[in-house]
Amino acid sequence: MSSSPIEFKNPVLKWVEYRLPVFSFIDSSVGGSYPAPRNLNYWWNFGSLAGIILAVMVATGIVLAMHYTAHVDYAFDSVERIMRDVNYGWLIRYIHMNGGSMFFICVYIHMFRGMYYGSYKEPRELLWIIGVFILLAMMATAFLGYVLPWGQMSFWGATVITSMFSAIPYVGDALVTLLWGGFSVDNPTLNRFYSLHYLLPFVLFGLVFVHLWALHVHRSNNPLGVEAREPEDFIPFHPYYTIKDLFGMGVLLIFFLGFVFYAPNFFGEPDNYIEANPMVTPAHIVPEWYFLPFYAILRAFTADFFMYWPVAWLMSAKLAGVLAMFAATLILVLLPWLDTSKVRSNKFRPINKQFFWIFVADCLLLGYIGAKPAEGNFIIIGQIATFYYFFHLVVLVPLIGILERPKPIPESISTAVIKSAE
Ligand code: HEM
Repeated sequence: MSSSPIEFKNPVLKWVEYRLPVFSFIDSSVGGSYPAPRNLNYWWNFGSLAGIILAVMVATGIVLAMHYTAHVDYAFDSVERIMRDVNYGWLIRYIHMNGGSMFFICVYIHMFRGMYYGSYKEPRELLWIIGVFILLAMMATAFLGYVLPWGQMSFWGATVITSMFSAIPYVGDALVTLLWGGFSVDNPTLNRFYSLHYLLPFVLFGLVFVHLWALHVHRSNNPLGVEAREPEDFIPFHPYYTIKDLFGMGVLLIFFLGFVFYAPNFFGEPDNYIEANPMVTPAHIVPEWYFLPFYAILRAFTADFFMYWPVAWLMSAKLAGVLAMFAATLILVLLPWLDTSKVRSNKFRPINKQFFWIFVADCLLLGYIGAKPAEGNFIIIGQIATFYYFFHLVVLVPLIGILERPKPIPESISTAVIKSAE
């Protein structure tokens, strides 16, 4: 496999390549000249799937923007017009709406894959950290976008989440006024949210570019987590992984379009088909499903529970909840250092593997609690699940890394295959 520029017979390609080596760039990034470990499984499909969805979201978003009106008096009706009068407007909107959920499904799987196979460890720490920032940018984009249809959940979701910032000492109230562009969620809020919702996906593109740049420096990790040895452990990305990614895309499309055509409102909230009304608060304000675990963490800090904490004199329960919610994502930046084990893949880490799955279950439990009203047993279960989330990352992960005795690790990908074939 050589990374030297390719020779083209076609005079047009030759002409372009000589002036701008774009084809050899593609070839060395996702083509026959890019070496990829030979044992990547289907969990390695989700990065490219996320990339495809990002492109679909931008394409459909641009068309929606042509028909959408960012004004509190017209926003809701302009979305209804897209659904009823604009040619294929319903399709474009349903793809965009469900695309958001597909995006988070792919990225969450992509992240748990990274955790399971230790892809965040040396030398891919920065690749992982950029990933965490991608997640934050995605969350911001999704939150801002949900406000645009100006339904009841748009309005009340925006009110609840932006009001959280008022818990920040001294500057909180001023910050909320700045976010709102006034003294409540209103027309200036909708305008700035629309502007930022249009901007952020391009920031995401930039972040994904840097993410892939970092990926190409040390190339992909693999299910065994061992260093791949040149040349026997590698195969050319094209055609082996281009075809595998294409197959994954087909499966995703079936799943994705299944929702778009047969259950387009499955992930949605019926209340968002009611126009925003500042005078009527919905009985249950729930965020989109992909925010539910974080919402559960936010609500775990109830005043009666927090007053027994040693730091209770420092801050309000509300502020503690807000900090914990942000910490739940930001702590992932530290994961490469919290994990003290040198072994990457959980295939060779019998104890850590069990705790990994308990952690996954805990995240799902948090999601379930986030969807429930904050009352009775749901509160205490949410508090235990929140405690466990941080306990896992801050205490268990470092401790298991020190105490666990990993299974014998193969020297390379090929030796593992040859050994198992013997
Ligand atoms: C827009 C969202 C994202 C896109 C388009 C994206 C894209 C990709 C692609 C194409 C790959 C190579 C294929 C693969 O390993 O699946 C990759 C690898 C990776 N990504 Fe992402 N990514 C995104 C978000 C994230 C997030 C949120 C994280 C973690 C917080 C993350 C962490 C990683 C890691 C650690 C790798 C290396 C995996 C390995 O080689 O084992 N990515 N990403």
